[in-house]
Amino acid sequence: KRRYTITLLPGDGIGPEVISVAKNVLNLTGSLEGIEFGFKEMPMGGAALDLTGVPLPEETLSTAKQSDAVLLGAIGGYKWDKNEKHLKPETGLLQLREGLKVFANLRPASVLPQLVDASTLKKEVAEGVDLMVVRELTGGIYFGKPRGFGMNENGEEIGFNTEIYATYEIDRIARVAFETARKRRGKLCSVDKANVLEASMFWRKRVMAIALEYPDVELTHMYVDNAAMQLVRNPKQFDTIVTNNIFGDILSDEASMITGSIGMLPSASLGEAGPGLFEPIHGSAPDIAGQDKANPLATILSAAMLLKYGLGEEEAALRIETAVLDTLSRGFRTGDIYSGENKLVGCKEMGDEVLKSIETEVPAT
Ligand code: NAD
Ligand code: IPM
Ligand code: MN
Repeated sequence: KRRYTITLLPGDGIGPEVISVAKNVLNLTGSLEGIEFGFKEMPMGGAALDLTGVPLPEETLSTAKQSDAVLLGAIGGYKWDKNEKHLKPETGLLQLREGLKVFANLRPASVLPQLVDASTLKKEVAEGVDLMVVRELTGGIYFGKPRGFGMNENGEEIGFNTEIYATYEIDRIARVAFETARKRRGKLCSVDKANVLEASMFWRKRVMAIALEYPDVELTHMYVDNAAMQLVRNPKQFDTIVTNNIFGDILSDEASMITGSIGMLPSASLGEAGPGLFEPIHGSAPDIAGQDKANPLATILSAAMLLKYGLGEEEAALRIETAVLDTLSRGFRTGDIYSGENKLVGCKEMGDEVLKSIETEVPAT
């Protein structure tokens, strides 16, 4: 039996609801695939602030570092929104990504045939979309210094941040993106703001330099404002997108709606070594938290990415992905992807239906 230790970070809002479902999915999949999971559940975000006074306790980070993979629900909520910067749940998440050195964030967005009608775009525009956003995750304006609050020459209060990228940071994310594109349809679009920002001019220069190592991949460049427009005009033009931390954050939320809901999109954050971090791209959804309304599929699919990218358990990952498609084919929908004729279910019931699909599935041989 293969044995893995997984750190679970339920976090806040709908985080605990979706993590509890994903944990059951991992357990059942594991039992059918000869895998045993040892779960370590640790506090993170607002939950950790309430419990320990900090958003990422040392013990949570060290447990995460010692495990084979980390699965996170979501963090944040109204209760902590006015906290000082270092006492915000979001700061804990950035510390976790930095601590695990997971610089490459893969955010796939594909329109599933079962969910074409859930897209806000016209059927002919949405149908068949299959793209991957490769988001730089441990640099750029999220981490750049100087940053902070201060005073300008007029004695007026200011807030400031720095968008900054070093050669090694761009080179390594570019390589991940080219490798990703090579395994997909061989097309990479680098998104920047090189018409205005020095950090983007330098980004483009390094991406072009790394492109020489990948003559088989077709590289294009696009300004981020145009990219935001092209994503809703004709998303099928995109295969792999590589971009900086903040543009990747925004464009992946935008891409999620093409697929029907932000409640569908998973992500994998990987570094050069050590455990990967897997999380849905959505947040803690305080507006629906505690009501059993959350769509757990983004987290279930993040668990599938954990198996595939984090543990190399591709068959187990495929089992989960197939079960999600089967559950949707059987008509089950949470509120965010519900459109009339389907069966409206809550978070727990959606999870139970995925478990049923896993049990009845004939494994591919
Ligand atoms: P959000 O993603 O939490 O919610 C945006 C909208 O999408 C809400 O209407 C919500 O109900 C809906 N939604 C999100 N996930 C859903 C799901 N699984 N099923 C159904 N509907 C879903 O973004 P927000 O409202 O801007 O942020 C709320 C909090 O979450 C903030 O504190 C923010 O900082 C935090 N946040 C955390 C993460 C993370 O943990 N990785 C990501 C984004 C935002
Ligand atoms: C995400 C979130 C985070 C980010 C926040 C909560 C720090 O929006 O995971 O997409 O901006 O990276
Ligand atoms: Mn985001």
